[in-house]
Amino acid sequence: MSILVLNGPNLSRLGKREPEVYGYQTLDDINRGLEKSFPEQTFEFFQTEDEGSLLEKLFHIEDNGGYRGILLNAGALTHYSIALRDAISAIAIPVVEVHLSNIYAREEFRRTSVISAVCLGVISGFGANSYHLGVRALLGIAP
Ligand code: DQA
Repeated sequence: MSILVLNGPNLSRLGKREPEVYGYQTLDDINRGLEKSFPEQTFEFFQTEDEGSLLEKLFHIEDNGGYRGILLNAGALTHYSIALRDAISAIAIPVVEVHLSNIYAREEFRRTSVISAVCLGVISGFGANSYHLGVRALLGIAP
């Protein structure tokens, strides 16, 4: 049973993008770090700038099976995409919401997540470690 690590808009720019907020690791560094920390666990990694592709990926995973859960950093879609919220509600696979930064300590518009209520839980503010904690959360509920 694999874990899908799903990243939305602008997360392809990690390493170059506002490093004082998001750190110097690239998305590839984060992904390789997960593989290294959880050698027994298989992962699939997917990033897209496109909301529709994110939704299609969720449905594809749901329909094809073989996944114990999804780690989702939806980027800015977190704050306004009702379509993403509905898609998460429409699937049975557990989704853990993760953020590198602490969205509750930032601008007002980032303090609302429209997806948290339909996710299993939220991990926000621990940099790349948010992803590691998210994997632990998924392993804890579906060993
Ligand atoms: C983010 C926080 C969002 O507000 C922002 O739009 C991102 C990254 C984070 O990981 O801290 O793109 O999800």
